[in-house]
Amino acid sequence: MSLSVLHRDTPNRTSVSTRACGKINLTLEVLGKRSDGYHDIHSLAIGVDLADRLSCTLLPEQEIRIRCERAELATPENLVYRAAKSFLKATGIEAGFEIELEKEIPVGGGMGGGSSDAAAALQLFNEVCDAGLSHASLAAIGATLGSDVPLFLQLPSVVMRGRGELVEPVSMKWSGCVLLVHVDAFVSTPLVYQKWRNDAQPRRPSSNSKSILEGTSADMLNGFLRNDLEEAVFDVAPDVAQVFRALEALRVGPFRVSGAGSTLFRLFDDEDAAGEIARSIENAKLNVKTRIVAAPVGENPLVFEEN
Ligand code: C5P
Repeated sequence: MSLSVLHRDTPNRTSVSTRACGKINLTLEVLGKRSDGYHDIHSLAIGVDLADRLSCTLLPEQEIRIRCERAELATPENLVYRAAKSFLKATGIEAGFEIELEKEIPVGGGMGGGSSDAAAALQLFNEVCDAGLSHASLAAIGATLGSDVPLFLQLPSVVMRGRGELVEPVSMKWSGCVLLVHVDAFVSTPLVYQKWRNDAQPRRPSSNSKSILEGTSADMLNGFLRNDLEEAVFDVAPDVAQVFRALEALRVGPFRVSGAGSTLFRLFDDEDAAGEIARSIENAKLNVKTRIVAAPVGENPLVFEEN
């Protein structure tokens, strides 16, 4: 990996914070299993206005601290912690970080919360150290942390290829809102890919993503949504399957699963229509949490605080 470090001088103790928004996959096509164990995919993903918040303070000592209300997330396994390690190693900067993480995006929900946090953290480290790494360099570090990390550097809408790490920003005609239905289940991505039924020869991507980019109404887009991992998610998480079937029975769909997770979603052109459907779902007492968020979004501005 070649990295360009423009400055290495450490400024005064400074904090910088940002939002880390979640994503949904409007299409997720699995093209085949690779010899390295990953799967080749083709996916159109968009950012949605549901975000974690991260703030980062530069420490003079070589220590990485994560603070999070959810103690189980404040561990060295957290992608943010691993992002810090990778960033310091790649740049050779001898310092540390204290990172505060406020979670809003459900964990294991298929909305890329952990990956988005890692992408946001890399941008915060870059700023707080004044390291001057390019987006491409940050994406290269991100890709070593997880296939979904680089996409968060290119939102609001992207096409992902390879194992997901090859990202091309695209422009969409549609914007509106998304009704998210969170099922309370953690879904493991590796397990979902293991369950994916490889019953065909390597495939080519369909034209669904192209049609979605051209679509101007939620109805048009909803017809082209596709997720090849959906059945595998249902195998791994029967609770998600049960809610999906219940939504079908209520005739409030079409809903799709996002990524390899436990969030179901439907697109709407306006909030009122989404709110009406959300109320029907809440009234059905399915033990889910509904949320209406704007999409596509990708702006996660940096906010600086001098200490
Ligand atoms: O890249 P990431 O670490 O997020 O992937 C977690 C796991 O999900 C991989 O180890 C692999 O088992 C599976 N995966 C896959 N194909 C992809 C992305 C992830 O098989 N394109």
